[in-house]
Amino acid sequence: MKKERIIIGSDHAGYKLKEKIKKFLSEEGYDIYDTGIYSEEPADYPLIAKETAVKVANSQFDKGILICGTGIGMCIAANKIKGIRAVVCSDTTSAKLSRLHNNANILCFGERIIGSYLAQDICKIWLETDFEGGRHIKRINLIED
Ligand code: RB5
Repeated sequence: MKKERIIIGSDHAGYKLKEKIKKFLSEEGYDIYDTGIYSEEPADYPLIAKETAVKVANSQFDKGILICGTGIGMCIAANKIKGIRAVVCSDTTSAKLSRLHNNANILCFGERIIGSYLAQDICKIWLETDFEGGRHIKRINLIED
């Protein structure tokens, strides 16, 4: 089965973890596009979040992953784009439920908050869990409206 196309981005505070996650997901067979940044030079996370979220919202990519210090700024910014359901997850249960119930299309987390092994597990479970549909569809549509 063809794996989804994933877009990933970070600011300076998430750069190192982004590089690790990129390598991990490539080894898992995902097609990864890196929207930056490409060094630890200070960068403004809202700009990376916007560029990434727009490309997910217009279906250039199936899902996005955004990493900053906490994941919070990226998540707030990404959710300003219509059609985006971005979540911050620091545990695998939230990651799984954000797909099952919320059909989240952008996953955010923080390099200053979680370790790289946990981040890998969170990405894996988030990418492998499908939206449950059913009673959740109406609620997703209410968010959209
Ligand atoms: C950068 O210092 C930091 O504020 C940013 O990475 C992020 O954590 C914001 O939410």
